[in-house]
This record gives sequence, structure tokens and C-alpha cells, in this order.
Amino acid sequence: MRWSSLFASQAAVSSALIATTLFTLSASAQDRTTEQGEAQITDPNQECTPYSYAPVTAALAANQFPPIWTIATILPNDTNAQAKYQSIQSQIPNIQPNGSPASTSTGDFSGFSYPSSDPDCWWTFDQCTTPKLAGLPPDLAGVPEPNTLGYGFDDGPNCSHNAFYDFLSQNNQKATMFYIGSNVMDWPFEAQRALADGHEICVHTWSHKYTTTLTNDEVFAEFYYSTLSMEAIKLVVGVTPTCWRPPYGDVDDRVRAIAHALGLRTIIWQYDSNDWREGFNNVTAADVDQNYEYLIARAQNGTYATAGTIMLTHELNNFTMSEAMKFYTQLKAAFKYLVPMGVATNQTQPYVETNYSLPSFDQYISGTTTVTGAVPAATAGSSSSTGSGSSSGKTHSTGAASRALFDGLGILAAGAAFIGFSVKLLA
Ligand SMILES: *[C@@H]1O[C@H](CO)[C@@H](O)[C@H](O)[C@H]1NC(C)=O
Ligand SMILES: *[C@@H]1O[C@H](CO)[C@@H](O)[C@H](O)[C@H]1NC(C)=O
Ligand SMILES: *[C@@H]1O[C@H](CO)[C@@H](O)[C@H](O)[C@H]1NC(C)=O
Ligand SMILES: *[C@@H]1O[C@H](CO)[C@@H](O)[C@H](O)[C@H]1NC(C)=O
Ligand SMILES: *[C@@H]1O[C@H](CO)[C@@H](O)[C@H](O)[C@H]1NC(C)=O
Ligand SMILES: *[C@@H]1O[C@H](CO)[C@@H](O)[C@H](O)[C@H]1NC(C)=O
Ligand SMILES: *[C@@H]1O[C@H](CO)[C@@H](O)[C@H](O)[C@H]1NC(C)=O
Repeated sequence: MRWSSLFASQAAVSSALIATTLFTLSASAQDRTTEQGEAQITDPNQECTPYSYAPVTAALAANQFPPIWTIATILPNDTNAQAKYQSIQSQIPNIQPNGSPASTSTGDFSGFSYPSSDPDCWWTFDQCTTPKLAGLPPDLAGVPEPNTLGYGFDDGPNCSHNAFYDFLSQNNQKATMFYIGSNVMDWPFEAQRALADGHEICVHTWSHKYTTTLTNDEVFAEFYYSTLSMEAIKLVVGVTPTCWRPPYGDVDDRVRAIAHALGLRTIIWQYDSNDWREGFNNVTAADVDQNYEYLIARAQNGTYATAGTIMLTHELNNFTMSEAMKFYTQLKAAFKYLVPMGVATNQTQPYVETNYSLPSFDQYISGTTTVTGAVPAATAGSSSSTGSGSSSGKTHSTGAASRALFDGLGILAAGAAFIGFSVKLLA
């Protein structure tokens, strides 16, 4: 699926470019050379036809990045990365990676022995979000503002996100986009659109692995090549994010410490919509609907009267984006406020570059939702997807899907991954 890179080889790139050229010529004149042009495309198939963007092509050709969709490592001759890595050594605790190499892609930690006292505040083990290592801030799992949903989406940029981003624009709704570095390299104009539309960009690592299974230098490189000055998000979008979300929530104090040393706040969630699992592990579209509905019911019954929350949702595919659109109006009615994570926490300077800012929470809720300094937003395309469809139309295996639903605590028992529930599919 999406793990097979569209830019896996030069040959693939060349044939893809030829295909793109032919396609572009035969279709009505679409501009595939700018963010604004790309944002106008409404046919998902055309949106997902590869194009080339010179800065990315040049950087990849010059081996300035690890291969996309593979675990990042520090490039042997990258003296800047090496110097940065050396400079944070004293901040990295002596904690070993978790699990076996197989856990890196499956999340199956069943053969791994870990003390029940949870010495490293390992989220996958018990959803720990308050680090035990001194000097680390707690993860942002809920948001402090009452009746507020920290609104964000993982795994983008998705090539076919125009209908969804148009929908957000039409509703003057901003969100936090947790972008995968490899997707940013594949879909640079789609990444640029987030900034143009006034969304907040955070990092979701380079290749989307279980980060606690990686070595220190791999964890560093998964962050470094995604975000730091001169690297993917900076190269493509022009900004250096200061926040990240661990893929699968898999974080512990070792990984937190490396993120913290690189200026990245760790953002997690309290609820998993399980939209990413739809069609797998017996998770159905109806289960995902129910998860949204449970969150809405709680918002209506006063559960968030003193502090707001965060639910995990995705820009992964048509289904996950359609669900977001389908439930938007209900969420907005049930919660008083839907705001990006940075807005929910008054993080008015979301990037290292000081010429961009987010509105404060008070500004946002009184109508100032735009990022100061953002380039003009692309004109929204004419398509207006209402997202009113009821399901993705896929067929599903039947059977118990209780894992997919919120349990009594309102939190998916993600520790199931630890006790032998192997998360074979990736999101
Ligand atoms: C590293 O070496 C490769 C050739 O092996 C070169 O293309 C690349 O530009 C070098 N990268 C850096 C950061 O110096
Ligand atoms: C984006 O969404 C489309 C439609 O569901 C899907 O085919 C594609 O694999 C997704 N992934 C990326 C990286 O764009
Ligand atoms: C709201 O509903 C949830 C789910 O049914 C329930 O667990 C919770 O106790 C309720 N909270 C209040 C304040 O009624
Ligand atoms: C955000 O700023 C406003 C205004 O200063 C303040 O009332 C509110 O408590 C702040 N919220 C957070 C979460 O810091
Ligand atoms: C912000 O500053 C950077 C250089 O530091 C520049 O490349 C970029 O265009 C500026 N953006 C805006 C919106 O002023
Ligand atoms: C996307 O999902 C919606 C809702 O499930 C559906 O109506 C629509 O046909 C899907 N679009 C594509 C291109 O698959
Ligand atoms: C899915 O449901 C079937 C039938 O109930 C069951 O045998 C299977 O173990 C379930 N799979 C998962 C991953 O839960």
C-alpha cells in the first residue's frame, strides 16, 4: 500500500514523469508546478499522479536524504547531522530500544520482557504520558481549554486531500497536520498547501516506524531528516516545526528525550477513532462511526467541562478524510471549540522561523483563525465534498470488533499491542 514508494527508483521516477506528462497533456491544462495549481485539481486519480518538484529531485539526487520510506540513518558524510547528534548525547538517557527488529514494523512486542513498573513511561505499555525522566515535559494528550477538541490529522500529506482541505477552508477550520517526512518528499505541493491554508504542521517522523524499537541514531535521524533546518519540511515548506506525534503512539522517555533535545513537543491523544484500522483487524466503518459518536456523546454530557481532549484521526485515505467531513458539523456542535493543538495551548510561535505565528486561543475563538505571515491561501477548488456518504463501500470481514471501540475508560487498550495483539497494518 502506501509503503511502496512512488519514487522507489530512478526508473520509476522517469516512467512516472513520462506518465504524468502524457496525462497532463491529455487532460485539461492542469498546473502541476505550483502549490496553487495542485490545489485546484479535483480528480483524486489525477491528484495522485506523481509530479516532480526540482528542490526535492535535486536533494534526492544529491543523496542529501535517506531513502524515503526506509528507517532513517545519519548519512555518513552529513557533518551537520553528526555534529547535531553529538551535541545532544548528554541528554539521551541510557535506555535500550524495545522489542525486536520485527516490532519495528508490526508493533508486536509480545516476546519482549519489560518491567511492570513501567520505568521508561512507555506509552504502548500503559498509555503513560507523564515522563519519569527528570526534565521532560508531559506529553500533550488532552488540551487544557474546556469543551475544546485539539483538532489534528496524522500521516499526511495525502496526495488526494484537496476535497478535504477545501472542506476545511470552506468552514474556516484550521487543524494540526502531522506530516510524514517521506510523504512530504513525495507530495511537496500538498505539504505546502497546509501552510498556505493556515494549518499547523507538526512532524510524524521520516518513515513512520515504532520509534521505541529504533536505536538512538535512528530516532535522531527520523526527526532530523523530517524537520530540522535544511531537511524535508524545511526544504519543501520553508518552516521548521516544534512539535511531533509518535507513530502508533509508540514513545518512551528515551525517544522523548531525543525529541526534546531537538525542540519537539510530544503530542499524543486520549481517544483513538480507529479510522486507520478500518477494513483490518475486524474494524468496520460502523465501528469508526461509533467511536466518533461516543466522543460526541461525551462532549454533550459534560465530560470535557473542565478540560478538553484529543482524538486520533487521519489524513491517511479517502475513508479517514470522509469520516472527518461526515462528523465535522456534529463535533463542532458538541464541542464549543475545534482548534489546532498549538492554538489550544497558546503556542503562538509554532515554528523555529519567527516570521510565522498562530493565533492565541482567545484570538482564534473570536474569529482570527489565520496564521500571520502565511502565504496567501490557495483558492479552494469548486468541488465541495459534503462527506455525507455512509461508508467507504469496502467489504469487511465480520466478527468481534470490540477492540475497535472505546473501552470503559474511553481509551483504546493500546497495550493490547504489548500483550500479543500484533498490529500488522500500518497507519
Ligand atoms: C554525501 O556524499 C554523496 C556522494 O556519495 C554526495 O552526493 C552528497 O552530496 C554528500 N552529502 C553531503 C551532505 O555532503
Ligand atoms: C491517499 O488517499 C488515497 C485515496 O484513499 C489513497 O489511494 C492513497 O494511497 C493515499 N496515500 C497517499 C500517500 O497519498
Ligand atoms: C458521559 O458519558 C460517558 C459515556 O457514556 C460516561 O462514561 C460518563 O460517565 C458520562 N459523564 C457524565 C459527566 O455524565
Ligand atoms: C491562553 O491564553 C488566554 C489569554 O491569556 C488564557 O486565558 C488561557 O488560560 C490560555 N490557555 C492556555 C491553555 O494556556
Ligand atoms: C520567513 O522567513 C524566511 C527566511 O527566514 C523566508 O524564506 C520566508 O519567505 C519568510 N516567510 C514569510 C511569510 O515572510
Ligand atoms: C470516498 O469516500 C466517500 C464516502 O465513503 C465515497 O462516497 C466516495 O465515493 C469515495 N471516493 C472515492 C474516490 O473513492
Ligand atoms: C476477526 O474475527 C474473526 C471471527 O470472529 C476472528 O477469528 C479473528 O481472530 C478476528 N481477527 C482479529 C485480528 O481480531
